Order: sequence, then C-alpha cells, then structure tokens
Amino acid sequence: MAIERVGVIGGGLMGSGIAEVCARAGGDVIVHEIDASAAEAALERIEGSLARAVDRGKLDSTESDRVLARISVSTDLQHHADRQLIIEAATENEKLKKEIFADLDAVAPEDTILASNTSSIPITRLAAVTDRPDRVVGLHFFNPVPVMALVEMVTTVKTSQATIETVRSYSESLGKTVILAKDRAGFVVNMLLVPYMLAAIRMYEAGVATAGDIDTGMRLGANHPMGPLELTDFVGLDTTKFVADVLFEEFKEPLYASPPLLTRMVEAGLHGRKSGEGFYKYG
Ligand code: CAA
Ligand code: NAD
Repeated sequence: MAIERVGVIGGGLMGSGIAEVCARAGGDVIVHEIDASAAEAALERIEGSLARAVDRGKLDSTESDRVLARISVSTDLQHHADRQLIIEAATENEKLKKEIFADLDAVAPEDTILASNTSSIPITRLAAVTDRPDRVVGLHFFNPVPVMALVEMVTTVKTSQATIETVRSYSESLGKTVILAKDRAGFVVNMLLVPYMLAAIRMYEAGVATAGDIDTGMRLGANHPMGPLELTDFVGLDTTKFVADVLFEEFKEPLYASPPLLTRMVEAGLHGRKSGEGFYKYG
C-alpha cells in the first residue's frame, strides 16, 4: 500500500516536524490539535521551519508554498476518516495516548495503520485498546525531525509483517534510516540516551561542575553536538521526566530514576526551551 494520506495527532515540537517531513515527501497531511489556538500554533511552527529552510537555500519558496498547501490543521478527529497512516505525537502520557488510540480506532478505516511517536511507552499497551493490534507500530522520530536521519520502528508480538513492510518503506521514502526495536520501554536510543541525561542532571545537582562546564565538556570532549543539559532543555524536561518514569517503572533500575532536581524543575514549569527556561534561559 502506497501511503499518500497521513494524519498526525498533536502538532507540538515533534508533530509539527513529522507533518513537515511527510508533506515534503509529497503526502497530504492533516494535523489534529486540542483546540484552535494549539492548531494555529502548530501551523506557525511548520511555517517557521519551512521559512528557515527557504532562508538557508534548502527549499525554494514555490516548493515551500506547495508543501504548506498539502498540510491542514484540524480539531475534529472525524477529518482523519480517510487517512492511511496516522502518527500519534501527543504529549507523553500513557492514559492520554490510550484514549487517543481508542478514538482513532473508532474513526479510522479498518486498514489504516496507527503509529505512535512515543519516546518510551510500550506500544503493546496502545495496541491493546484497539481492534487492530496487527496494524499498530511505534514510529519514533528524533528532534528536530527535519534534520535527524533516524526513525526507530517498534514492533509488538502482534504487529503484522505487512504493517512492518509498509511502514518501513514509507519511512525510507521520507529520507530516514530505519532501525527495528522490540517493544521494551525506551526502545534502543532512549534506553541509552536518557540515563546519560539523568546522570548529567545528578552531576549538576551534586555541584561537581556548572551546567555550562558539563555541556562544554561533552561538546568538546566527546564531540557531541549538544551537551546533556542543553539536550534535556531541547527535548523538554517534562518529556524527559515522563520517559525516565516509564523506564523506571519497566526496569526498576536506579539509573532510570528521575533526579529530584528534574522532578522539582518540571513541577515548577521549567520545561526547557519550549517554556523559555530549563537549565538555561531562552529569549
Ligand atoms: N528544524 C529544521 N532544521 C533545523 C532545525 C529545526 N528545528 N534546527 C536546526 N536545523 C538545521 C539547520 O537548518 C542546519 O541545516 P544546514 O546546516 O543544512 O543549513 C542544521 O540543522 C544545523 O543547524 P544550526 O547550524 O542552526 O545549529 P547546530 O549546528 O547547532 O545544530 C542541531 C542544531 C541539529 C539541533 C544540533 O545541535 C544537534 O544535532 N543536536 C542534538 C540533537 C539530538 O540529539 N536530538 C535527539 C534528541 S532525543 C530524541 O529526539 C528522542 C526522544 O524521544 C526524546
Ligand atoms: P509537545 O509538548 O511539544 O507537544 C505535544 C502536543 O500534543 C501539544 O501541542 C498538545 O497540545 C498536543 N496534544 C495533547 N493532547 C492532545 C490530544 N488529545 N489530541 C491532539 N493533540 C494533543 O511534545 P513533543 O516534544 O512534541 O512530544 C510529543 C511526543 O513525541 C511524545 O510522545 C514524546 O515523548 C515524543 N518525542 C519527543 C521528542 C522530543 O525531543 N521532544 C523526541 C521524540 C519523540
């Protein structure tokens, strides 16, 4: 099945990027948001990212207009009744995602594939609330979606081979390299990356070094594009804590436990770059 009509649920940091790459590959994309102002914000995010690509000479303005014309935003889930693939990228929260999957199962045609961009939640739990567990996969993009070349495809014991092949070839058509992961919390990348980010927060909390020196250390000493605290701000402290909590619940290992400082910062609304402040302040 060639995928031409895609739905994206949630137009935040990730959903807007996913919508952009799907539309840039030629797809017709509808982004679902919770209300009109969130839908408008999603569209502005996509417009901003396309404008940036035009400014950098990576996209011409006519093509940018064509891409934008292929994207619409909506607050009515019924608009997804003709979608062939729906990628859920709403807030990292299991209860919310289960509700969304149950709603999508009711709205989408029988052969529509439902995917989740969750960073950590086992896909089996989302598939279990639908009547189509063979057509449910994890499709984990990385931030910023237009730049990062990887997607992790997460399969459950019920995912069918046809679903795997369709989603793999669709992901490759977006220019992404696909790796396959079994359905364990955190999959491959976050199971390795999140304990590293948490270790940096513990180091900062213990006063071993300043945030700036921890980040400079890993940027210049290990050639990472961002230091771990900058990266946590970039990913979102709220999302990082959700992922840590899911990993801790699954494995009960101290290395996955959210450091008290992370928990307090999230409680205080310091969610990183998207909220204007995390380990650093943003203008
Ligand atoms: N949207 C589109 N393009 C963007 C972008 C965005 N948000 N941010 C940067 N870019 C593009 C720029 O246009 C630029 O492209 P060209 O060089 O072709 O012109 C390129 O990326 C580099 O950008 P900059 O020069 O502005 O900045 P930089 O060199 O500092 O790179 C970065 C920015 C790509 C974000 C880089 O810092 C980086 O790779 N950081 C690490 C990102 C990372 O690790 N992501 C994974 C997070 S974990 C995750 O996603 C999983 C999860 O579940 C939490
Ligand atoms: P975000 O907070 O930027 O965006 C989430 C969006 O979901 C918001 O715009 C919110 O209004 C919307 N939303 C909430 N409930 C909704 C509903 N019922 N229907 C439609 N939209 C709804 O978060 P994000 O960083 O974009 O993360 C989204 C998902 O992607 C999460 O599962 C996260 O774990 C995953 N993810 C995040 C990153 C990252 O670096 N931030 C990377 C990979 C995967």
